[in-house]
Amino acid sequence: MTNDLVARHATVGEIAASLPGATDVFRRFGLDFCCKGDVALDEAARRRGVDLAEVEGALSALDGVADRTAAPAATPALIDHIFARYHETHRRELPELIRLARTVEKVHAARSDVPRGLADLLQRMASELEQHMAKEELILFPAMKRGGLPLDAPIACMRHEHDDHGEHLRELETLTDGITLPSGACRTWQALYAGLAKLQDDLMEHIHLENNVLFPRFARPA
Ligand SMILES: [Fe+2]
Ligand SMILES: [Fe+2]
Repeated sequence: MTNDLVARHATVGEIAASLPGATDVFRRFGLDFCCKGDVALDEAARRRGVDLAEVEGALSALDGVADRTAAPAATPALIDHIFARYHETHRRELPELIRLARTVEKVHAARSDVPRGLADLLQRMASELEQHMAKEELILFPAMKRGGLPLDAPIACMRHEHDDHGEHLRELETLTDGITLPSGACRTWQALYAGLAKLQDDLMEHIHLENNVLFPRFARPA
């Protein structure tokens, strides 16, 4: 997608899927491009209370900028990329985030700004993500690689579970004041919030690649 195609009536998900670098812009403006990506850009900006012209300006400035998170174009390679770059990363990083959150909640229990309940939320996210990713790896992705089967039902199920992951991210933002460190936060707290910001970025990019890039390739023609 080039500049002139950054139409305000295109959906956020369509733009994210076709304009390199757009996901960075959407993150900056707080526009949800993964779970709520089926909303037109002007409507998404209105709902979020951000200036549409500013968003369009930032998108237009991307023309010609290389996509730092470029995913492979071919479906089998895209699936392998999602597995290696996102599934394995969530599995590697979430246990440490849970440990850090437990430490911060315990050590700073007396502070009113401690993210109380964060470790439990992360634990819930880790176990739901694990079940979800296992279904993709054992059932959906192999079926996609084989081809031939109608996949509408499992894809609808995965999209529904992505909405739940998005809901967890919103809870995480609420608990952590938008992943903003309070003054006087210790090193562990700092490490925790840096890790949470990365988790948020990774999970949104992961869901975006599935919802807006991979799954539409298996949509039945209307
Ligand atoms: Fe996935
Ligand atoms: Fe998924």
